[in-house]
Amino acid sequence: MGVPFIDIKRFEEGFLDEWKEKVAALSLNAQFIGGAEVANLEKSLSEYTETKYTVACANGTDAIQLALRAVGVSKNDKVLLPDSTFWATFESVVNVGALPYTIDTNPVDMQMDFSQFEKAVEEVKPKAAIIVHLYGWGSSRIEDYRELCKKKNIILIEDGAQCFGVKYKGSPLYKNSTIATTSFYPAKVLGAAGDGGAVFANDETLANKVRCLANHGRTSHYGHGLVGWNSRMDSLQAAFVNLSLKRFDKRLESRISIANKYQEDFKKIGVNVINPPSDYTENGYCNVTLFDNQKRTALETILKEKGIGFANIYPGAMSDQEGSKEHLQKKFSTGEAGKIASTVLNFPLFPYMTDIEYNEVLGIVTNFQSGKN
Ligand SMILES: Cc1ncc(COP(=O)(O)O)c(C=O)c1O
Repeated sequence: MGVPFIDIKRFEEGFLDEWKEKVAALSLNAQFIGGAEVANLEKSLSEYTETKYTVACANGTDAIQLALRAVGVSKNDKVLLPDSTFWATFESVVNVGALPYTIDTNPVDMQMDFSQFEKAVEEVKPKAAIIVHLYGWGSSRIEDYRELCKKKNIILIEDGAQCFGVKYKGSPLYKNSTIATTSFYPAKVLGAAGDGGAVFANDETLANKVRCLANHGRTSHYGHGLVGWNSRMDSLQAAFVNLSLKRFDKRLESRISIANKYQEDFKKIGVNVINPPSDYTENGYCNVTLFDNQKRTALETILKEKGIGFANIYPGAMSDQEGSKEHLQKKFSTGEAGKIASTVLNFPLFPYMTDIEYNEVLGIVTNFQSGKN
């Protein structure tokens, strides 16, 4: 029996009917841009994330660029970011004309390494930094990052594309950020029916600037106070995310229970499975294990034969990407990001994955660990 790496078609009963009704109603009224769905979504997201202001936008990459622009990062400003992340984080820095510096990864929590970050802060004196909350949790040093940046006048942007639903000390991780972003790419924990994203902020001026930039820098319909672009979320995407948000607690519960099972069972069979740091309640975005590179190749061959989906998130650090060569200013590294890239292996995890599917994966990995397949 095969098991997909991710299956995002497992909607709750009644979900697709409600969605069809929504599409029909919005189409009938030709309500495609803005309107109540977007306004309601922003309100619900602020309630959920415990941030004062939410601006919905076109995608998670735009959300980072909007945040960078809103805090005033522009040409030749220095920005620190993790070497382990999705390319969008790196791209965003370059797209606003700023200069990227990458920071190595901490192999324990798999997030940006705080000691390398401190070193870079002293040497580079950056205007801003982006921390990425990767894999469905965040850094064990998150409070140190926030404090250090405040002390040194560095604007800290939090790329939370993967951390919707994550709690830190019982509160949403976004809550105490200066400015944070997320993505509603369909495979994210809270996904849209296409692309979508959001920026969260607690400062009204900052939120207004994000909103203005995301709508052609408008001050009135044909008045433009800033050069922005069109990064509006459309009403259909907002409607889909609103419907998903109503079911979000159930989806989250399902993801977390599977993530927990992997953590318990894999540990028992000697797999190096990564647990979130204490103080975090993860969102079950991802299962993360590390295998010796040769062993990983052998296991991947078996997984392919048996039809079990898997991923390597991420197979290359930012500093190793061809596209980073002409932009990267310096990498602060002891080689951990590269090591993780060559050893990381992620197993299937998605809402409503069945026990049969989970046991199939576990059985194959158990046999592999004991040399039986
Ligand atoms: C860490 C991170 N940042 C940014 C993004 C970009 O989001 P989007 O695909 O919505 O542009 C993603 C999603 O793929 C991501 O995982």
